[in-house]
Amino acid sequence: MRALASGHIPELILCDEASLPSLTAHADRLSDTTIVVADEATRRSATGLAVALSVVGLFPKPANVELDDLLANNDRVVALAQVDNPTNVGAIVRSAAAFGFTGLILDAESSDPYARRALRTAMGTTFDLDIARVTSSATMFAALRERDFETYAMTPSPDAVALDDARPGPRIVLMLGAERSGLADEWMQAAALRVRIPMATGVDSLNVAAAAAVACYGLTRRNG
Ligand SMILES: C[S@@+](CC[C@H](N)C(=O)[O-])C[C@H]1O[C@@H](n2cnc3c(N)ncnc32)[C@H](O)[C@@H]1O
Repeated sequence: MRALASGHIPELILCDEASLPSLTAHADRLSDTTIVVADEATRRSATGLAVALSVVGLFPKPANVELDDLLANNDRVVALAQVDNPTNVGAIVRSAAAFGFTGLILDAESSDPYARRALRTAMGTTFDLDIARVTSSATMFAALRERDFETYAMTPSPDAVALDDARPGPRIVLMLGAERSGLADEWMQAAALRVRIPMATGVDSLNVAAAAAVACYGLTRRNG
């Protein structure tokens, strides 16, 4: 239903009888959609899930946006480098949406946010974000500079600035890296600021999705 509410048009909806009235609010956009009312067993077998969802929609995969359009239309952006686990990408999407980050940039090695596991973890919030994929980090950094974005490289490194001391301006990109090796040197060096979430002594790092949740929340609370 979040995809529908975000303006996406399904090719097919499979639902129970009781859910039909909730679709009438979107009737103007469902004229070309096939709507099938089915019993629990049919809905369970359609998804392969143990639970029979009351409404299931089949949507064309949304197109990514161009980087320039994303940067023109969003002031708070998360950028991922080599985040290849779809569950982590889904959890990051959910936190970004929850804390007002509305753009997501992915490098070539990060997971697809529309992969099934990522979508399920994000609980449909994926449809609220503008998403762009970049193949050249140099091009991305040039575009960010042109648009006056502050670039924060998130790292557990002890010599980075503590999150509580960061004072983000109006346009910010929060960059997060790989579970094993962290952010690539190229991203670290190009960032305006390296930012850490302080942790107890002896802990190596947070999971990348946990770091994203803390950072998005923390930076949303310290504007300027
Ligand atoms: C599991 S960590 C990578 C650990 C790696 N050993 C390193 O030094 O970056 C994955 C990503 O989560 C983010 N992260 C994890 N813990 C963090 C912390 N305490 N402060 C800031 N970012 C953190 C970083 O973006 C990091 O690239």
